[in-house]
Amino acid sequence: MELLEAIDGRRSVREYTDAPVDDAVLRELIDAAINAPSAINQQPWAFIVINDAAKLTRISDQAKAHLLKASLAAPAHPFREMLNDPKFHIFYHAPVLVVIAAAEPTDWAVEDCALAAENMMLAAYAKGLGTCWIGFAQNWLATPDGKAALGVPATYAPIAPIIVGHPRRQPPPVPRKAPEIHWLGASPPKA
Ligand SMILES: Cc1cc2nc3c(=O)[nH]c(=O)nc-3n(C[C@H](O)[C@H](O)[C@H](O)COP(=O)(O)O)c2cc1C
Repeated sequence: MELLEAIDGRRSVREYTDAPVDDAVLRELIDAAINAPSAINQQPWAFIVINDAAKLTRISDQAKAHLLKASLAAPAHPFREMLNDPKFHIFYHAPVLVVIAAAEPTDWAVEDCALAAENMMLAAYAKGLGTCWIGFAQNWLATPDGKAALGVPATYAPIAPIIVGHPRRQPPPVPRKAPEIHWLGASPPKA
C-alpha cells in the first residue's frame, strides 16, 4: 500500500470482529512502531500487549470509574452519560490493546511514543487491521493500580493505548478543518 493511501484511508475503528490478531502480526506492527524517529534516538518506548478479553474489560471498567470520579467536579463533562453506561466498553471489545509506554522519563518521551503510535496505526491499516487511540484509558493507566495492571514499574509512563483488531467495516471519512497556515517569506502555492 502506498504511504499516502494509508495516511488518507486510516480511520479510528470502533467496531471489531471477534477474530484474534496473530502475535506475528503484532510483532510486525511493533517493528513498524520502533522505526519512528525519537529525540536523540533514545527510543524510550516499551510495548505492553494485552489480548485477554476479561482483563481488557476490567481495565475498561476501572478507567470509566476513574474518569467519572475525576469528572464529578465538572458536571457538564461531555462523556459523562457514555461513561455511566455499563454497556460502554472503552476498548470497543477489540481483541488487543497495545499500550506504548515511556520506559525512561526522557524530555521527549511523549512525542517519541506518539510517533511510534502513529507508525503502528498506519502499519496496521496497511495490513487490513483497525486501530484507535483510547485516551479514555490514559488517566487510570497512569495510576499505581494501572501500572500494576500493565505489569510495569512505577517509573514507566503509559502514553498511547492503541486497540487493534479486524474492523467490522471501514468507517466513513472524518471531516477535517481547513488547516490554518501562515506562509512566511514564501508565496503560497497557487490553488
Ligand atoms: C490522543 C487521542 C485520544 C483519543 N481518545 C479516544 C478515545 O478515548 N475513544 C475513541 O473512541 N477515540 C479516541 N480517539 C480517536 C479520535 O476520536 C479520532 O482520531 C478523531 O475523531 C479523528 O478520526 P480518525 O482517527 O478516524 O481520523 C483519540 C485520538 C487521539 C489522537
